[in-house]
Amino acid sequence: MLDQLEQLKQEAVKEIAAVESLETLNDLRVKYLGKKGPMTEIMKQMGKLSAEERPKVGAVANEVREQLTSAIQEKQEELGAAEIKKQLANETIDVTLPGTTVKEGTAHLLTQVIEEIEDLFIGMGYTIAEGPEVEKDYYNFEALNLPKDHPARDMQDSFYITENTLLRTQTSPVQARVMEQHDFANGPIKIICPGKVYRRDNDDATHSHQFTQIEGLVVDENITLADLKGTLTVLAKKMFGEERDVRLRPSFFPFTEPSVEMDISCFKCGGEGCRVCKGTGWIEILGSGMVHPNVLEMSGIDSKKYSGFAFGMGPERVAMLKYAVDDIRHLYTNDLRFTKQFSVKE
Ligand code: DAH
Repeated sequence: MLDQLEQLKQEAVKEIAAVESLETLNDLRVKYLGKKGPMTEIMKQMGKLSAEERPKVGAVANEVREQLTSAIQEKQEELGAAEIKKQLANETIDVTLPGTTVKEGTAHLLTQVIEEIEDLFIGMGYTIAEGPEVEKDYYNFEALNLPKDHPARDMQDSFYITENTLLRTQTSPVQARVMEQHDFANGPIKIICPGKVYRRDNDDATHSHQFTQIEGLVVDENITLADLKGTLTVLAKKMFGEERDVRLRPSFFPFTEPSVEMDISCFKCGGEGCRVCKGTGWIEILGSGMVHPNVLEMSGIDSKKYSGFAFGMGPERVAMLKYAVDDIRHLYTNDLRFTKQFSVKE
């Protein structure tokens, strides 16, 4: 019986050592230590032994059982650890795999144009001023030399909120607001003012009831039309190319005297005449002029001592000309197929 036990042990230990999965290991446990297994069989037969032999064989049998139990236990831990290791290996993150790309937005074309113009003027020592979009009739019209019954108001059909407040039709009211507050002890007035304006227009390819403007204003002693022309020339060349020529045409605005309209030589044909410039060789860009003495006085500035120039332009027009956009509505409908064409990396 002792031989039988020894043989059993060797056989079992060998088999346990060779096991590669927890399942097979469990099968072995049942096979050797289970109720119907050889150990149970041997135990049953102990009764047939002599009283002398019984304790010896019993001791060996117990030992074998313990050895097998602990061999199985060890193997079980070994296989468990291997399984975890395998699982970890399978779940390793490959950091060299391409990541999920984050969709990056870009500034809207209109914002890009406005920022380009802002940067140019900031570089020339201007600061940026802002004013309310819901504006008093006084600032939008009266302080700009457009009294209540002035016919030039008709050109700017307006959204009135009350009798005396409206959605501003132009950024020019910021001129009056800035002048009222200004103290020349702090230096001259040099501002630009970008912002939204509103008019009761029918929307079409070149008109919108809401659009943007950039206003400019410089007031100091001895400011002349030459300063205006020099400034606008820098602007034209920066926005449309160094080769651009500039011409000033007489015009009318109630808040400037004299008033001028600035044209640039056509960037498409260089001045020969083409579709973009309607055969004239020139493209109208903005309105400007020398600030009317009435406007200076109404805002508390001595028009005998100080003079200034002002200009107002439409970033939509600049964007449309520069990038050949054929319909102003493309700038507002936010169709990605359009906006994506103007993505820039900072
Ligand atoms: N505010 C004018 C408009 O909306 C544009 C303009 C013209 C602004 C001449 C000015 C200027 O500052 O001097 O039509």
